[in-house]
Amino acid sequence: MIDQETIQRIMDTARIEEVIGDFVSLKKRGANHIGCCPFHNEKTPSFYVSPSKGIYKCFGCGEAGDVVGFLKKHEHFTYPEALTYLAKKYNIEIHEEEQTAEQRERQSERDALFHVTEFAQKYFADLLSGNEMGRAVGLSYFHSRGMSDEIIRRFGLGYCLDEWSNFTDHARKSGYSDAVLEKTGLTIFKEDTGKSYDRFRGRVMFPIYSISGRVLGFSGRILSSEKQAAKYVNSPDSDIYNKSRTLYGLYQARSAIAKANKCYLVEGNIDVVSMHQSGVENTVASCGTSLTVEQIRLIKRYTPNVTVLYDGDPAGIKAALRAVDLLFTEGMHVRLVLFPDGEDPDSYAQKHGSAALQDYLAQHEENFIMFKTRVQLEGVKDDPIRKAELVKDTVDTIALVPDLLERTEYIAQCSHLLGVPEEALSSELSKAINRNRLKAYEEKPAPAPAPAVSEQAAGAAPSAPVAAPHPSTPPPDACEMHLISLLLNYADHPIEVMVPDESGDKHPETHPLAELIVNDLQDDELSFTHPLCQQIYSHFAEAVDNGGEMDPTYFITVDDEPLRQFAISLMVDTYRISDSWRKKQVYVPRLEDKLQEDITEALFSFKLKCLDNRIADNAQRMRMASGGDEMFALLQEKKQLIDLRRDIGLMLHRVIS
Ligand code: CTP
Ligand code: MN
Repeated sequence: MIDQETIQRIMDTARIEEVIGDFVSLKKRGANHIGCCPFHNEKTPSFYVSPSKGIYKCFGCGEAGDVVGFLKKHEHFTYPEALTYLAKKYNIEIHEEEQTAEQRERQSERDALFHVTEFAQKYFADLLSGNEMGRAVGLSYFHSRGMSDEIIRRFGLGYCLDEWSNFTDHARKSGYSDAVLEKTGLTIFKEDTGKSYDRFRGRVMFPIYSISGRVLGFSGRILSSEKQAAKYVNSPDSDIYNKSRTLYGLYQARSAIAKANKCYLVEGNIDVVSMHQSGVENTVASCGTSLTVEQIRLIKRYTPNVTVLYDGDPAGIKAALRAVDLLFTEGMHVRLVLFPDGEDPDSYAQKHGSAALQDYLAQHEENFIMFKTRVQLEGVKDDPIRKAELVKDTVDTIALVPDLLERTEYIAQCSHLLGVPEEALSSELSKAINRNRLKAYEEKPAPAPAPAVSEQAAGAAPSAPVAAPHPSTPPPDACEMHLISLLLNYADHPIEVMVPDESGDKHPETHPLAELIVNDLQDDELSFTHPLCQQIYSHFAEAVDNGGEMDPTYFITVDDEPLRQFAISLMVDTYRISDSWRKKQVYVPRLEDKLQEDITEALFSFKLKCLDNRIADNAQRMRMASGGDEMFALLQEKKQLIDLRRDIGLMLHRVIS
C-alpha cells in the first residue's frame, strides 16, 4: 500500500505531457499537445493532451482520462503499478504502508522465485550468444529457423547446455537454494537417488513473461528429432506461473494488440516469434494448453477482436472450432484464418516471406459463423432435412450475437452461403431472439438481493464491466444498463417520433434521444434501482429539464471512481460498424431505424421490470395488510398493474418480433 502523502507527491510531480510523450509523439499546439491516438488507428492527429487540466482526450475514439488513467489503459497497469511507474520516472521514493507479516512472507517467497527465473533467463540467453556450444547448437538452430538476432533478443531466447546439471550447479554457486530451484521446476530432484538435474538440458529456451515483463517460466524445445522425448517441455505451475492464465508473447504483443484492436491467436511459440518477425506483432499463443477462459479474459483487457490462426488439417479445424466456441461464449468477436493443410504461420512465413503471410492473413480471414456454417455445409450435401437443421442451428448461433449490426451482417452473409432469402432468415432470427428472451425471463430467479461483490472490488483484473459501489449493492439488471448505455452513447442523437396534435393527427417530430427517454420515464414516475444507474440518469434528467447541453465527457473524468468506471464500461459503442463492412465500403443501413427500435424496446423492457417490482411489492403489502379496505385497494392496484403489464408486454412483443 502506497501512502496518501506519496500518492499526492507523485500526482503533483508527474507532467501528463511528459508521461504520454514517452509513448506518443506529441506536438505543441497552443495550450495543448496533440498527436496520433495510441488507442485507435489514425493518420491525422485527434489526440489532445492538456497540461493545465492534466487530462488527455481523443476526439476520434473518445478515450479520455488523467495521467494514471492513461497508464492503466495504455500499459494495462493496475492503479498501484501506475503509481510505481510514475514514482520511478520522477525519482520519488515510495513510502509503503506496513504489510502484515504474512503478506511480507508471501511476497518474499514469490520474489525469490522471480529472482531465480530471471537469473536463469539471463544465463540461458548469455549461453546462446557467448558460449561456444550455445552458439554452435542453440544459436545456429534459431538461425536455421530464420530468426534474426534482433527477434532473439526481443523474446529473450536462450539455450540450456546439454549437460546433466550445468545450470543447477551454476545457480547453486550463485547462492540459489534447492527449494527455489525445485519450485520453479528448473531443476528436477530424483527422490530415490537424491540426484538433481536440469529440466531443460539440451533445449532451446523460450522464456514466458508476465504482462509487466517478469519471467514466469520457460518452454524448451528439443533439437534432436528423437521420437521418445517430448518436443516441448514446459515449466510446471508454481506460485508465480499458471499456464492456463498465461499467454505466450503477450508481453511483447500487448501494445500492438491494443493499437490494432485485434489479437491473432496461434498454436505455437515459434509461430508467435515468426509472426512478430514478419511484422504481425499483435500475436500470442496459449502456453501448451488448449485455450482457457482465463486466457481469453487476458486478451479481453486489450481487445474484443480475436482472429484464430490454425492449421487446416482435420485436427486443426477441430481445435479451431473448440477455441472459437469458447471465445464466442466469452463475448469476443471471433474471426478465423485457416492455413493450407500441414502449414502453420511459421512454416508459411518461411516458405513465402513476410509480405505473402500478411496478404494471406488479410485475404483468408472469415468470421466465426461463416466458418462454422461453411464447415458444416460440406457435410450436408443435398439433404433438405439436414440443411433445414443447419439453417436453424446457424440462426440460433446468430441470435446470441449481442450487436445488432453484426447480426444483420451475418444474416446477409449466411443468406448468400446457404441460398436462403434474407427475409426468411431475419424472421427466424427474431423468433430465436424472442425465445431466448422468454427463456432468460422465465429462468430469472426471484429477485433476491444477493450481495454481489464485483470482481474489481475483490481486487481482480479490471475486466469486470461493473464496479459495485458497495459490496451489498446488487448488480444492475440488463434493462437498466441498456437504457443507461443508450443515454451515455447517443444522448443527443436525433430520433424521429410521431406526435399527435390537438385534432389527433400525428406529425413527425425530432428530439434528442435523452429528451425522449427522460420525458417518458418522468411521465410514469419511474426510477432506477441501481444507485449508479440512477446517478447517471439524474445527470441527464437535470440537463433535459434545464434545457442544457449534455456533455458526454463528463463521466469520463468525473471525480468518483466507481461512477467513472461504470459509465465508461457502458460507453462501448454497441453499434460498432464491423471492419469488414468498412473495408468493403458497404453503406450501413438505417442506424437510426435500428436505434429507434432499440430505444422503444429498451423503454418497454425497463417498464416491464419496474412493473414486476411493483407487483412484487404489492404482493408483499398484501401479505401484511390488516383490514378489508386496505386489501380491496391493494387488489385493485394489483389488477391495474397486471393489465398494464399485459399491455406493455404486447407492445414489446410487437417491437421485437
Ligand atoms: N506443445 C507442448 N508440448 C508438446 C508439444 C507441443 O507444450 N510436447 C505446445 C507448444 O507450445 C508448441 C505448440 O504446442 O509450440 C504447438 O505444437 P506443434 O504444432 O507440435 O509445434 P510447433 O509450434 O509447430 O513447433 P515447431 O515449429 O518448432 O515444430
Ligand atoms: Mn511449426
